[in-house]
Amino acid sequence: MNLRTLLPAALLSLAALSAVAQSANRVLFNDGWTFEKDGASRVLDLPHDWGVEGAFRQEYPGETGKLPWWGSARYAKTLEMRAEDRGKSFYLDIDGAMSGAKVWCNGALVTEWPYGYASFRADLTPFLKEGNNEVAVTLDNPQESSRWYPGGGIYRNVWLTREAPVAVGHWGTFITSELTGDRTARIALLVTLENRGEPYVGLVTTQILEQVPELVSVAGRRQRVERVLAETRSYEPIADGTVIPQSFDVRDIVRWSPDRPKMYLARTVVKGQDGTEAVYETPFGIRSAEFRADGFYLNGEKTFLKGVCLHHDAGALGAVWNEDAWVRRLTMLKEMGCNAIRTSHNPPAPEFLDLCDRMGFLVLDELTDTWTVPKKENGYARLFEQWAEKDLVALIHRDRNHPSVILWSIGNECGEQGDSTRWHIPQHLTDICHREDPTRQTTAGNDNLWASRTPYHETIDVYGYNYKPHAYAQFHADNPQQPVYGSETASCISTRGFYWFPVSDEKGEGWPDGAPFQVSSYDLYAPGWASKPDYEWAFEDQAPYVAGEFVWTGYDYLGEPTPYNLDPSILTNYHTEEEKEAAKAMFASWGQKVSEEPLPSRSSYFGIIDLAGFPKDRYWMYQSRWRPDLPVAHILPHWNWPDRIGQVTPVHVYTSGDSAELFINGKSQGLKRKGEREYRLRWDDVVYEPGTVEVVAYKDGREWARDKVVTTGAAKRLALSEDFRGEELVFVRLEIDDKAGNMVPTACPTVTFSVSGAGEMVATDAGDPTSHVPFYSEQLPAFNGLCSVIVRRTGPGKIVVKATSPGLKTAKLVL
Ligand code: GAL
Repeated sequence: MNLRTLLPAALLSLAALSAVAQSANRVLFNDGWTFEKDGASRVLDLPHDWGVEGAFRQEYPGETGKLPWWGSARYAKTLEMRAEDRGKSFYLDIDGAMSGAKVWCNGALVTEWPYGYASFRADLTPFLKEGNNEVAVTLDNPQESSRWYPGGGIYRNVWLTREAPVAVGHWGTFITSELTGDRTARIALLVTLENRGEPYVGLVTTQILEQVPELVSVAGRRQRVERVLAETRSYEPIADGTVIPQSFDVRDIVRWSPDRPKMYLARTVVKGQDGTEAVYETPFGIRSAEFRADGFYLNGEKTFLKGVCLHHDAGALGAVWNEDAWVRRLTMLKEMGCNAIRTSHNPPAPEFLDLCDRMGFLVLDELTDTWTVPKKENGYARLFEQWAEKDLVALIHRDRNHPSVILWSIGNECGEQGDSTRWHIPQHLTDICHREDPTRQTTAGNDNLWASRTPYHETIDVYGYNYKPHAYAQFHADNPQQPVYGSETASCISTRGFYWFPVSDEKGEGWPDGAPFQVSSYDLYAPGWASKPDYEWAFEDQAPYVAGEFVWTGYDYLGEPTPYNLDPSILTNYHTEEEKEAAKAMFASWGQKVSEEPLPSRSSYFGIIDLAGFPKDRYWMYQSRWRPDLPVAHILPHWNWPDRIGQVTPVHVYTSGDSAELFINGKSQGLKRKGEREYRLRWDDVVYEPGTVEVVAYKDGREWARDKVVTTGAAKRLALSEDFRGEELVFVRLEIDDKAGNMVPTACPTVTFSVSGAGEMVATDAGDPTSHVPFYSEQLPAFNGLCSVIVRRTGPGKIVVKATSPGLKTAKLVL
């Protein structure tokens, strides 16, 4: 898959422009922070995650990735206030710090914001003196606070806004659009102003601009082309907190949609009394989005949400926000046919939504994994009473101008679902959402089947079921007016390139005793509460009113390595001797034994794509369903089974066709046709012989797509190729090949990378959920034929990447 050729053209040409709502006086404040933790100190650039820099340790909890992400730390940096800055406001804008952040200036506490996923502003103005000032951020990130890898540190961008005394306030615009015709719309804008001085009558002007996708060269400099579509001037009294409504009629517009994510820009200029101008830019899209009783409607057209849930980490980069990494990830999802993301279970980085705007994804923007009933001792429940409203308002004010955001999700599987004495909590959160943003509905991910049949469901607008497709019909019959969808679906688990025999259809049999902590990739396996994709789809296909689904998950993530996560029969999951003894006694009373064997797994098996960014078989299963017009055929398993000659080795095929014929070494195994509610073609009696497996898929009687898998020779050489190139990072793919250039799907040799020239190595990973090789290591075992190395460009010139492995031909790639 060459990601570069897949990137939407508009994204490429706009890539250099930042596109979240912001003051023009905002600059990145990421470089040169002094970081102190555990008695050591060094200078580094943000964003930074100290957890992912550490080594994996067997004794650390697999649930949070076996990395050392907890603890206290301090970041400090000098801020110079020059004479000409006198009278200006200084704001530190932090996109995300994990967690318990306190901001200090010259030793005085400026503000605090405990939730690690929230973005917030610290007003430094009253604390600054002319000359050098010390700005510091202290963090206190407690253990037992998360069900997945949270990361630790200032892991998103930090900005410095140096503002005129009169300006648009923080997240001070709210823009909405009403479609008035095919190519016309009425735009409404609310501008909230701040004024640190006396009220005065002044001018606020907003232009609605169209960014023409091409960048043109003007006198040798690349500049964006803009077209003014409308302008409104307001001449009004300006006091602190004044809200100015402006409206615009625009023509010749293109509606925003995943297929054509057209963006516009509102540029607001506030004129100060002294003639200075403060500029604030709000990117936006023009679209309507609405959940109705029978599904989701975008621009009046029914649109099925082909969604995935995503946690915030980017694999080997940890929690660190990196735009290139996410462009790569989203591009692969887009290619699969995915059009929607649920940011489970927390607010994403603001730039994530910027990418979703520009690449065309519909987003469920989520607040939290818990309300007041704790899931972890130090989790969000501890903050809820004091912070939930502030966090939710911050989320909505930050994100409400993004056309990609279609729903506010107020929580996930919260313990209050089944407790009628606490339904005022979701009701209150829904009310806050409606108050702050009357244009969007609310939702939550719900797993309590019984609760969904009580008035609890009335506390949210759009009902999300986690893993209950069998409940869609009853819910719709009981509540014909309330929209419903799958907020989490499938939770199928698998390891890329790993297959286990015999193949059983029992969903718990993909990881039997003796399997090396990996899960068979026949895509039939799931934990008890979950299912294979086929199960979900069979219900969706009988429920045309279901608005869509969000697969758990698009990518593997750090932590939560179910089925090797928190198995109560594994003694190493207990902290104290007392707990271990109690567990032994409990299992003995059931006639079962506990195991002393520690679980090595540190990342999930849920992903459609593995942690290193390589697709698993399921990728083509979803692509076949979500892009029915794309010719897709995909065979599994691989065909290197020297120990299985003569044994039954089922072959499954995912295709967007309706039938297919399978050939083993040219001999037909028969033509199979998909029956009603059948989503894969299965040849379960194939007897293994080495050679070639080939499938020819048909659609409406015509040949549609083909795939071929061969038994490879022994591993002979390494092959490097550029997988994705961003502005800063290059993702390089390493393949272990035989003499003929076929990837050897079972090869796991240890590989050493070196990077020279104008680049440096950032991280390596091969996607093995059990690997304890640190992500910073230059040497690691490849996993089932593949490995990935992430390289950062450090300057102009060539970058040379080399890979070596004893006995294999060395590979060199010049970038
Ligand atoms: C859900 C939960 C997710 C994840 C998933 C795994 O119940 O909401 O966060 O834990 O299970 O299947």
